[in-house]
Amino acid sequence: MSLEFKAASASLLNATSSHVVSTVQGSTLTWLYTTLTIVGGLLALEQGVYRYKKRHLPGDKWTIPIIGKFADSMSPSMEGYKKQWDSGPLSVVSVFNIFIVMASSNEYSRKILNSPTYAEPALVHSGKQVIGSDNWVFLTGKDHVDYRKVLNLLFTRKALGIYLGLQELTARKHLARWLKEAATASSAKPIMMTARHLNMETSLRVFCGYHIPDSAMQEINDKYWSITQSLELVNFPLPLPGTKVYRAIQARKVVMHWLEHAAHQSKIAMAEGGQAECMVDEWVSIMAEPGYKGRKDFSDYEMAQVVFSFLFASQDAMSSGLIYGFQHLADNPEILAKVREEQERVRGGNYEDPMTLEMLDDMVYLQAVVKESMRVKPPVTMVPYKAKKAFPITSDYTVPVGSLVIPSFYNSLHDPEVYPEPEKFHPERWLDQEGSASSNPKNYLVFGSGPHKCIGLEYAQMNIALVLATAVVMMNFEHELTPLSNKVEIIATIFPKDGCCLRLTPRTSA
Ligand code: HEM
Repeated sequence: MSLEFKAASASLLNATSSHVVSTVQGSTLTWLYTTLTIVGGLLALEQGVYRYKKRHLPGDKWTIPIIGKFADSMSPSMEGYKKQWDSGPLSVVSVFNIFIVMASSNEYSRKILNSPTYAEPALVHSGKQVIGSDNWVFLTGKDHVDYRKVLNLLFTRKALGIYLGLQELTARKHLARWLKEAATASSAKPIMMTARHLNMETSLRVFCGYHIPDSAMQEINDKYWSITQSLELVNFPLPLPGTKVYRAIQARKVVMHWLEHAAHQSKIAMAEGGQAECMVDEWVSIMAEPGYKGRKDFSDYEMAQVVFSFLFASQDAMSSGLIYGFQHLADNPEILAKVREEQERVRGGNYEDPMTLEMLDDMVYLQAVVKESMRVKPPVTMVPYKAKKAFPITSDYTVPVGSLVIPSFYNSLHDPEVYPEPEKFHPERWLDQEGSASSNPKNYLVFGSGPHKCIGLEYAQMNIALVLATAVVMMNFEHELTPLSNKVEIIATIFPKDGCCLRLTPRTSA
């Protein structure tokens, strides 16, 4: 081979390989430019859509790409929420491209709750996975109204009278245990988990009576915490083993097993002529009444689903209400003294006699304490709803279809016009029927409003009152203040960050 040919071949080779390299480089660059253009376009579109939906409402001018305010939603704080609520009666935020309109005024919050044509409850993302999408709580419109009509029968005064004995027995048992444990403890102890346990056992006894064995009560209580922990605004999307939602679903299966068992046992007991002793019994016996015109074909599974929804709705909210009830009384000895005076008067000093509904009716001051405690610290500060169609909430703003629209209760419950010195725990404001608190019931949104208003509100208030009434006569409780006592922890509902540390001693004068 001649030298020229070698040189020619080498230069051809070089030319070819450099052409290949430059072609590869060229296509890599083209790919890179195309990808960057697409990504840039999508990010610009994301900002454009956000700003188009936001319009003039307060909220960040630009949303953080893709995740939005995800970091804030992972560790929510009352300070953060208050800042958002105070930014305007309507304001916006975006998390993972879920566009959220927050309502803070009484007018707009009530409007959302009372506009079923435009908005329906939308539990946090994990809600349907954890509760089960076939649960009645996801019904809307007429189906929901009809279903609720049947369930209302479980909260009549007659029904509440049946539950009272179980509630009192459980409260006494748990409070006696608190005292026993306090006797050997060297310091004040948080009541966060013990109050949750008391509440869980009360709910299970009231809902299922003795159709659930004690061992299962313990198991359900232990497992239920994973359900509470899964209720974050945003969760890992797939319920894979190891995730919170996976653990919650496993817990639900255990709970459902026992609730179905209870429904089954109740049907047997009532068919044998037994007396209704709990909620499922009452339900089964109502369906067997000659004048009953409603649905009768509730399977064990469906009854268990309903009871599960009650457990779900009550466990966190009622525990929050109860714990703040203790904290407010412990922090206000003069109010505690008035509650005790009332107990003495209404119960005539006979604290061993069973509590009756009539006695609770007469405890007007205690009822004011319960109401005020939940006004100052509303267990549920907001409930997510979803706009099922474009929702013209004001004359100049329409919530886009598919957005979350979240009424918050805090500002309504802390409105200084209705509740002067709103941060002050002042039960007396409820005693005057003509006073601004009593004459503005629309502001009291602790239990929501409209077609989805809490079905268990009377039962819940009665139970918190009963536990506090039992506690104030059985024990002295002293609150050990810590730097976290007045800070709020948000775990589905709200709790004092230190779990409310109480030093408990028996009350000898009781
Ligand atoms: C202090 C305790 C409680 C508080 C603060 C509370 C609060 C609430 C709130 C704010 C709502 C949403 C209302 C709305 O969207 O307008 C709600 C709904 C609900 N609550 Fe409660 N609740 C409590 C206890 C209970 C209890 C003890 C039960 C059952 C025994 C219960 C059962 C329900 C149910 C089933 C719903 C959904 C109703 C529906 O969609 O029709 N709650 N609750």
